[in-house]
Amino acid sequence: MKNRDSLRSEAKAFILQYYQETEQSGFEDRWAEIKQQIQETGSYTHTLDELDYGGKLAWRNSNRCVGRLFWKTLKTLDKRCVSTASDFKEALIQHIQTAETRTKIRSTITIFAPSDSSQGSRFRIKNYTLLMYAGYEKDSQVIGDPKNIAFTKHCESLGWKGEGSHFDLLPVVYSMNNGPEQWLEIPRNQVSEVYIGHSKYPWFADLGLKWYKLPIISFMSLNIGGIIYPAAPFNGWYMLDEIATRNFGDENRYNMLPDIAKQLDLDLTSPFWKEKALTVLSEAVYYSFEKAHATIVDRQSAVEQFMKFMGQENQAGRQVTGDWSWLIPPNASSTTAIFHTEISNELKFPNFI
Ligand code: ARG
Repeated sequence: MKNRDSLRSEAKAFILQYYQETEQSGFEDRWAEIKQQIQETGSYTHTLDELDYGGKLAWRNSNRCVGRLFWKTLKTLDKRCVSTASDFKEALIQHIQTAETRTKIRSTITIFAPSDSSQGSRFRIKNYTLLMYAGYEKDSQVIGDPKNIAFTKHCESLGWKGEGSHFDLLPVVYSMNNGPEQWLEIPRNQVSEVYIGHSKYPWFADLGLKWYKLPIISFMSLNIGGIIYPAAPFNGWYMLDEIATRNFGDENRYNMLPDIAKQLDLDLTSPFWKEKALTVLSEAVYYSFEKAHATIVDRQSAVEQFMKFMGQENQAGRQVTGDWSWLIPPNASSTTAIFHTEISNELKFPNFI
């Protein structure tokens, strides 16, 4: 458990910020209550509104995230009381259903019990993201996503077995109250995936690519006012480059550029073949996600939104912090304004750690 002095000061900073930014009166009473709770129990409990606002602030303070303009729209699912494995699984499914409406993706966070919980069980999720594809190494060839080879082996050591396709959904590996690792499978029918085709090149669909709609980060803890929530999976929507440039384009991921270049009959002795193939790949991913009504943002719009966010924050008298190397798009970065902007990478709380 945290030392009471540091918990008190983190709690006070957050509660004060919450009351000031939401322009509510009553800070003194609430602070007195929290101080007493910390005195008696060594911890304190957030109200639903504090939890909700704390999650939003954690997003607003996420230095690596380019999508922060929408921080106020984050939808909180309060699952602090969940104590059994089956309710845990239900909550994850509810998260997916909440995040994915028919016409767009909604930013959502599910918050499970804090680390010093006396109510719900303490869950911890080992997956980087809730949804991920397995990777298998076979005779120096890789099937699936090479990034997840080690994690896939780990899942197999726990007794999980995949089909061996390029797109096997990995299970969710988690622990409960620091117990042994367990795994669960999100039912396949709860996970929508987008098949990737291109509006002009019919052969593109034959590459057999698909990707899921929801990036749900699940390995980070959430720190709100000194209270640590070890399981707080959250999602936004994809930025095109994450899927096209990185997941499909990176040589140590699905490495699709050579196949696409071949179909396009590109001159591989030219220094531009990768960029040409990448443009077609980006068009395909964007076109397919749009067609499936899965929210996706291109890099130009994403950065425009981020610059708007910076403007809004400055207007509110706050300095935006950010990790420049993560905020610039991996492709054509200098065509976006953030490339030419200086930004401090200072860590503010609440935040995800
Ligand atoms: N880049 C990661 C992936 O491809 C997801 C990270 C979170 N992305 C987001 N748009 N919220 O799965």
